[in-house]
Amino acid sequence: MMTDTIPNLTAFDEAALDQAFAALARQAQDAAAALNGEADAEAFRLDWLGRKQGRLNDVSGRWLKAAPPEAKKALGLRFNALKAEVERLLDAALGAGPSDAALAAEAIDITLPGTRRLTGAEHPITRTLNEIVSVFAALGYSVGVGPEVETDYYNFESMNFPPGHPARDTQDTLVVAAQDRRPLRDRLLLRTHTSPVQMRTMEMQPPPVRIVIPGKVHRNDAQDATHSPIFHQVEGLCVDTNITFSDLKGTLDHAMKALFGSAVKTRFFPSFFPFTEPSADVQISCIFCGGKGCRKCKNSGWIELLGCGMVDPAVFAFAAEKQPAYDPKKISGFAFGMGVERIAMMKYGISEIGSFYAGDMRFLGQFV
Ligand code: PHE
Repeated sequence: MMTDTIPNLTAFDEAALDQAFAALARQAQDAAAALNGEADAEAFRLDWLGRKQGRLNDVSGRWLKAAPPEAKKALGLRFNALKAEVERLLDAALGAGPSDAALAAEAIDITLPGTRRLTGAEHPITRTLNEIVSVFAALGYSVGVGPEVETDYYNFESMNFPPGHPARDTQDTLVVAAQDRRPLRDRLLLRTHTSPVQMRTMEMQPPPVRIVIPGKVHRNDAQDATHSPIFHQVEGLCVDTNITFSDLKGTLDHAMKALFGSAVKTRFFPSFFPFTEPSADVQISCIFCGGKGCRKCKNSGWIELLGCGMVDPAVFAFAAEKQPAYDPKKISGFAFGMGVERIAMMKYGISEIGSFYAGDMRFLGQFV
């Protein structure tokens, strides 16, 4: 079909042009008449209209170029007419569509059930994390994030874990290698808590601050039913004039009732964190037995859920290096941090933390 090439044109008078273009039109019509199906039509299109090797390209390249200036217009008109004819032939060939036999082979039985697509769903960790965040968003808190690879300064020093202090041993983590020539405060590690974002937030904005910070954290903890070396926390920070411990209690009591139901009670036990003073652990009444005592709460009726406290003046002093308004004589604040996995395990009655990370659809499919 495509062996005959375009001859050179030597005469450019109207009669010669008519004859030359008529011959091409005939060739195109003959070729089009023999087309059968889409593949043929595509070959025809390439043969005639192809950008590089198509015949029309050849015609315009050789005839038009060779034509004396006074013949160019007459040639151009005929060229456009030929192109239109080829396009019409191609449209007709495509419009004819596939044969009846081809259609029958592809026929769809519309009475068969369709292909069911799996609906995606939020992972239970993401869902719980969002739920915690929205409880605080409703109280007017904004949401912040910070880097997972953190400096020693933000993760430890500015959170009042001085270099060499034993409190650092409670939060061992992976450190980035080959940083010995850097000052300790600039060395990089995988953050052990979301608390460094407290400092990053305060450095960026003067008080008042109300922010929650969800994120992933890393610790050198052996994996067991309730611990994982990578897990998630939601941090909270509230700083303003006259923030008191009762604001902290009221806020967290409300948040626990919003997350676990209004029947839940909270109680605060003395604890220790370097960056809060005083510090407390928050317990909620056991959501499994209602406080009577069961296996889940080790018969105490209470379950420990999060850490909190009043922001230590030493932390404000670090923030004041960049934002002098963090003057502990003028402002005060509270902070809290909770483990997302722990809360999700309580809410959904999950006993193995590893279920969250295994990617087993039989587990994940329950949260659709
Ligand atoms: N950062 C603490 C931890 O990971 C939790 C916490 C946050 C405690 C804020 C008090 C205030 O254990």
